[in-house]
Amino acid sequence: MDPVEEIKAKLTIEEVVGQYVQLVKAGRNFKALCPFHNEKTPSFMISPDKGIAYCFGCQKGGDIFKFVQLVENVSFPESVQMLAEKAGVQLPAFSKEKQAAKKQALEINEAATLFYEEQLAKNEKQKNYLLQRGLTEQTIKDFRLGYAPDSFNETHKHLLQKGFSRLEIINSGLGGSKDTANNEIYDRFRGRIMFPITNVLGKVIAFGGRTLKQEKEEAKYLNSPDSPTYNKSLVLYALDKAKSKIRQKDKVVIVEGYMDVIASHQAGITNVVASSGTALTQEQIKLLKRYTNNFIFAFDTDEAGKTATHRALELAIASDVNVRIAQVPDGKDPDECIRQDLDLWINTIEKTNSMLEFVLSDLMQKFDLKTVQGKKQIVQEILPIIKKYPNRIEQEEYIKQIANRLSINEAVLRSELVKIKSSKTQNMKKPEEKKQNKPLSREKYLLGMLLNFPDFYELINQELVEKIFLDQGTKRFYKIIKSQYNPPRKFDIEEFLTNFEDSEKEEFHLWQLFAEEKYSRLPEESIKQEFQKIIREINKSNLAEIREKLVRDLKEAKLKGPEQYLLALNQYNQVLKLKF
Ligand code: UTP
Ligand code: MN
Repeated sequence: MDPVEEIKAKLTIEEVVGQYVQLVKAGRNFKALCPFHNEKTPSFMISPDKGIAYCFGCQKGGDIFKFVQLVENVSFPESVQMLAEKAGVQLPAFSKEKQAAKKQALEINEAATLFYEEQLAKNEKQKNYLLQRGLTEQTIKDFRLGYAPDSFNETHKHLLQKGFSRLEIINSGLGGSKDTANNEIYDRFRGRIMFPITNVLGKVIAFGGRTLKQEKEEAKYLNSPDSPTYNKSLVLYALDKAKSKIRQKDKVVIVEGYMDVIASHQAGITNVVASSGTALTQEQIKLLKRYTNNFIFAFDTDEAGKTATHRALELAIASDVNVRIAQVPDGKDPDECIRQDLDLWINTIEKTNSMLEFVLSDLMQKFDLKTVQGKKQIVQEILPIIKKYPNRIEQEEYIKQIANRLSINEAVLRSELVKIKSSKTQNMKKPEEKKQNKPLSREKYLLGMLLNFPDFYELINQELVEKIFLDQGTKRFYKIIKSQYNPPRKFDIEEFLTNFEDSEKEEFHLWQLFAEEKYSRLPEESIKQEFQKIIREINKSNLAEIREKLVRDLKEAKLKGPEQYLLALNQYNQVLKLKF
């Protein structure tokens, strides 16, 4: 059996989805709060018999693999891998070169992690550094912290000995060979505490290494370069450990440093991640949005931290995320705060500031609100941020608050806001919103209903005016239905479905589920009326379009000559006779 089929046979959709959201029974199906967008009433449908989970609100979902891809933000092969593990299905070795390279890269990182862990266990001084910083043995184990020996070749020698090639070592970023005599490899990480960076599946894909030297001559942290397995702008430190809590609390705390994350996790606050070796990126925000829409930034309070907060704020606002700012008092970073007073940390991430509170208080320190010039500067700095909000209602709310705080007329602020050029990111949201209004075309909806209630085919056969049936996407399906319709035999869904590929069947299932969802609230007798209504609507809109076309044809035919004109007129009259 194909492993994908086997996994599908072993895992039910409700079992897979149920790991992420709370399911509520709704007739034959289940419902849940959609994990892909924010909502208060459940509209995420899980259909055990169709094997799909889908949200008609944000139009996301699919079978178990599609669901896992979306919810974990992984590729199809990765979703297969994850579910294979869960189902206890053995996957054949991937043959493709790229996957082989990726696997090699994961293996070399794993081997290095083990080596660094061993080295840490052997080197008391280095281990004591971590223990003195308040980490427990268990935390060191959980985060797989290690030590890279202070040597140019110990690490890569070990890796060579384990069977990895020179090229693999260099590609992984663990070794370099630039400008060395005879192109010799040297270890990238030397004399550093090693923080393995993992992907969402918990596999090590890169490292951050902290120096133990007091002197400032080398960077405090050194990170792996980008590699086949690692793209730093796509990865968040400890997301694999934090994701379920983020979802559960519907909130993520983003800090700056590895140590901040580890300290917080050790203290039991685990919905915490950091971006590693880079300022927070748009991609990272997008990734986190899979888990929650509520972000708390707990960056350092020094100038660099403030700048990072501002930058991240603007990105997050444009991505339509709710952001709040947590400011650790006394210029400490979260790690220091936690070690000194855990309650203070908990308090800090509970009692957060709004974007406006944060930005205004920062600006009011920089500029003098009492002078006209100062006021002007504050407004100039803050309005571009307000402009980033994709939503007018939020903009309006902030205008009111700013007007109030700065004693400036709201209308003046509004007119200043209009003057600011809007950036590209703001317009990105719109097509998606538009799409949300109409999850399915009428034709697909009608087919969905038919798949639920095949007995109504006769009604469609009688009332749907096929002559003018325009929808190309579903036309083929109607043709097949028609060819199989053979009264007094009833229309047979199973037979009908044999005409289609799996992907098409899955689409049907969606339409079917959509109709089912609507009908679960309708009494029996209304179903016929609904059929009639939708058929009428299709006829009507098709007719309107056909008429427009015929009018255009008529005009053209008139120019071509009397014969063509008569022909077109005849067609037009025939269409006019159609009544609905
Ligand atoms: P910090 O200097 O605040 O690190 O940098 P930290 O975690 O508090 O470190 P400790 O407590 O002194 O051990 C925050 C983050 O910025 C990145 C690292 O990801 C670090 O965790 N960074 C910092 C670098 O990438 N390179 C550097 O040289 C410094
Ligand atoms: Mn620190």
